[in-house]
Amino acid sequence: MRRVAVTDGMAQEAVKKLESAGCEVVQDFIEHDQLVDGALADFDAIIVRSATKLTKEMLDASQPRLKVVARAGVGVDNIDLDAASRLGLPVVNAPRASTQSVVELTVGHLLSSLRFIPRADRLLRDGVWAKKELKGTELYGKRLGLVGFGRIAQGVANVAQAFGMEVHSYDPYLPLAIAKKAGVTMHKNVDNLFKTCTHISIHCNLTDETHHLVNQKRIRMMPGVDPFNLKCGNHVVNCARGGIVDEDAAFEALESGQLLSLALDVFEHEPVDSTSPLLQHPNFHGTPHIGAATIEAQRRVGLDIVDAVLTVLDGGMAETTVNRSDLS
Ligand code: MLT
Repeated sequence: MRRVAVTDGMAQEAVKKLESAGCEVVQDFIEHDQLVDGALADFDAIIVRSATKLTKEMLDASQPRLKVVARAGVGVDNIDLDAASRLGLPVVNAPRASTQSVVELTVGHLLSSLRFIPRADRLLRDGVWAKKELKGTELYGKRLGLVGFGRIAQGVANVAQAFGMEVHSYDPYLPLAIAKKAGVTMHKNVDNLFKTCTHISIHCNLTDETHHLVNQKRIRMMPGVDPFNLKCGNHVVNCARGGIVDEDAAFEALESGQLLSLALDVFEHEPVDSTSPLLQHPNFHGTPHIGAATIEAQRRVGLDIVDAVLTVLDGGMAETTVNRSDLS
C-alpha cells in the first residue's frame, strides 16, 4: 500500500481523496531529528506546508522509497530543491489554489493602512475616540506599484483598478503583453517603480536578488504625494515572502515619517519576535502569515496537491513540478 505522510495538516476532503485512491495517510508532525534519521524512508510521498523544513540530509535518508515531495501551497523555500533534483525526486506545489485569498488579504491590508483601521481599533479599545486624528486617504487616483506581476499581482491590479488606482509594475521575467492587456504600466527598473508610486505591494519570490529589495534607499525614493499633489504619504504592503522588506529600515522610515504605513503578513523570521520594535509602532500592522488561510484556499490547495501526488505515484509527471527531477 502507498503511504503518504502529511506533516503540517491538510483539508479533510483532500485526505479522503488520497485514501479513496488506496493510500494510507499518516497525519502527524515529524520532528527534525526523526526526519534526519530516515523517518521518510517508510513513505512514498510527503506533503508539507511551511513548518516542515526538508534538508538534503533528510531527503538522502528518504531513499529509495520516497517518490515525491509535495508542498501544499506556493513557496518551496523550505525544501532543498537541488538535493531533491539530484535524487531524481520531483517536488510539486499548488501554485494557483490560494491566489484569490492572497489577493483579498493584500487589498485588506492596503485599505486597513490607508484608513488606519487596526490603529483605530486599538485606540477604541483603550477608550480613545480618535475621530480627528484618524484622517486617512482614498485608494482612488493613487499610484500602486506591484513588485512582480504574477497571478496574485494581476488579481490585486484588477481590484485596485476597480477602486480607480493607476497600477504600475516591475517584473523582469514577464512578457510585456500580459501587463499591456491588464492596463498596467511596466517599469524597466525597480527604482523607477519606487520613484513613481506612493503605494507598493510585494508579489515576488524571495531570492538573493529580492532580499531587502524594500530598503532605506528605495523607501526614500517614494514620492509621498499623489498625481494631484495631495500629500498621501508612502505605504508598503508585503503578503509575499519575509525578507523582501528590510524590517529595520522600514521601522526607521516609519519613525521618520518617510513611510506613513507598513503592513506585513510575512516576516524575515517567523514567528516574528515579540520584542520587534515594529510591533509597537502605531502605523505598523501585521498578520501571522495567513495569506492562504481561508477555508476555500485550503480546500483547493489540498485537492490540487493530492492530484499532483497521485499523478507522480501513478508514474506520471505533475504539471506543477518545480524542480528538474531528471538531473539524478
Ligand atoms: C504559500 O507559499 O503557499 C503561502 O505562503 C502560504 C503558506 O505557507 O501557508
